Amino acid sequence: MRHLLSVDDLQATDVEIILQNASRIHPNVKNFGLNLSGRILATLFFEPSTRTKLSFKTAMYKLGGQVIDLPPDSSQKKGESEADTIKVISQYADVLVIRHPQEGIMEELAHYSDVPIINAGDGAGEHPTQALLDLYTIRQYKSNKDHLTIMFTGDIHYSRTIKSLLKLMMKAGPHNVRLYFTNEVNCDIKDLNYCYNIIEESEIEKNIEEVDILYMTRPQKERWGSNPSQASFILTKDLLNKMKADAIIMHPLPRNEELPGEIDENHRAKYFQQAKNGLYVRMALLKYML
Ligand code: NCD
Repeated sequence: MRHLLSVDDLQATDVEIILQNASRIHPNVKNFGLNLSGRILATLFFEPSTRTKLSFKTAMYKLGGQVIDLPPDSSQKKGESEADTIKVISQYADVLVIRHPQEGIMEELAHYSDVPIINAGDGAGEHPTQALLDLYTIRQYKSNKDHLTIMFTGDIHYSRTIKSLLKLMMKAGPHNVRLYFTNEVNCDIKDLNYCYNIIEESEIEKNIEEVDILYMTRPQKERWGSNPSQASFILTKDLLNKMKADAIIMHPLPRNEELPGEIDENHRAKYFQQAKNGLYVRMALLKYML
């Protein structure tokens, strides 16, 4: 695997090796070997980020490597192109982690780089490392289940995390899955091999009792343009109480009103563990790619 621009760059065997390594790192994260000493990761984030950027940086430091960041006062302010920026930084670093608002731009950016690029999110396109940590989380809590029902809510159409997760699940399982979407799915995931239903938000209550995993997303307002998402679902305590006792709630975070803070104390809430898993999975990925 030279670059990780999309889930398409991952073979099923890559996924297994990365996730198995992540589960070895998980209990030993404090004293994991420093095998990337002398290696440098560069972050180039042209869009806001908390978890993705900081977990990649933490992962690199924990593996003994170093990190450089494209500063807010970079020469882009003097009109330097992204192409030139990448050509130069790829001479300094061993791997570039890039987030960009433009969907589909990663292929082009990869042409300018002499070192591997990891896509940390391209517009409403893809977010392959979030998909890996989401799948890791699903396996952590649901590996004992033969059949899973997963409900996706929120701004599904513009969600790069849902899109990448679905692509990854097609490749690496789970395969016996029923899906509910409370919104139109992005067209290129319509050819899913899964059994799926698109329901109205008003029908969530009727179906929530079946759900093993509720995967929520925030409104992606920055991507709406003139086509705003109509999603307005908020998870209430009443709905929560209708869920199976062993159901889990996932969310890539950040959250807005859809996921009130009062849900956090419920045992089904796994989104902070999900964010924590991002560290183990990104450590495993960096070790694998470098
Ligand atoms: C997501 C993203 O950036 O796509 N966040 C993340 O990486 N954890 C989800 C979002 O921004 O809504």
